[in-house]
Amino acid sequence: MTSKASAPGKVILFGEHFVVYGVKAILCAIDKRITVTAEKIPEDVISIKSTVGNLKAIKNKPITEIDAPLRPFYYLANKIIKKYEPDSGIQITVDSEIPLGVGLGSSSACCVASAAAISGIFEKIPKDEILKLAIDAEKTIFPNTSGADCTVCTYGGIMQYDKQNGHQKLDYKPNFHFVIANSKVEHSTKEVVSKVEQFKEKNEEKFSQMCKEESDLIDGVFAFLENNDLKKIGTSIIKNQEYLEFIGVSNEKLREMIELANESSFGSKITGAGGGGCIIALADETNLENTISQLQKNNYECFSAKIDFKGLDTF
Ligand code: MEV
Repeated sequence: MTSKASAPGKVILFGEHFVVYGVKAILCAIDKRITVTAEKIPEDVISIKSTVGNLKAIKNKPITEIDAPLRPFYYLANKIIKKYEPDSGIQITVDSEIPLGVGLGSSSACCVASAAAISGIFEKIPKDEILKLAIDAEKTIFPNTSGADCTVCTYGGIMQYDKQNGHQKLDYKPNFHFVIANSKVEHSTKEVVSKVEQFKEKNEEKFSQMCKEESDLIDGVFAFLENNDLKKIGTSIIKNQEYLEFIGVSNEKLREMIELANESSFGSKITGAGGGGCIIALADETNLENTISQLQKNNYECFSAKIDFKGLDTF
């Protein structure tokens, strides 16, 4: 039997990094997906085929012996087989519309889609249980995760998220596009998050003031989203980027891209961990084409995306 599931990637509209320290973040799922196909195989192994690598390994290996990008898949396959059919082998195939490892939630979408596809071979389980499995899987590569990314990849739409209260879906249907541009600078979320932790340890007072400012900024954004006020959302995005600059997750390349995108869009910022990866720029029909061509003229790879309201899908 074959079981398939797909989950959207995401952008963080406001609040990355600060969310790790309890501040509320606003995230959007995007209409670019990762699809995972899982099936039982006669051979007693876990087999993974993906663009981040392939693996064929016996079951029950210590998780640290598995290469980092493939660890969550192995973890989920091993755990789920053990529960339902310990003698079975499993094959997982991953297809992606999202560039991997660039801050667009590919790792979370992989965790969510894999948890659903693998468990779907045996039983259909509710989204909240899929989410728990996905966060545990993501922790095998990123123990400090706030859980925000997996949450938006599971439920889709726009949501606010904080560590203490979890997620709350926001019932807005704002009409905007994201232009997403890839810096092609490699980054590791884990490393950038620990760099911010060091910054915080050296600048406790300033950092807690920044958390307060970020929190106030985000509190003001809900009304702008509700009214689809793109100018004001854009101004808040630009402000958020200043805070991200301050905590040291930007760099020259990202700054250059943001400056360029700000010329035609409503506002742009890093999305996700920073240090590399992608920026997002907010646009509508009036400035979408201009923003894209401005970035492309300067040799930046970019594409547009809209909000995905579906979240995890199984079929
Ligand atoms: C990464 O997409 C977002 C961070 O805030 C880390 C996290 O929330 O787990 C940098």
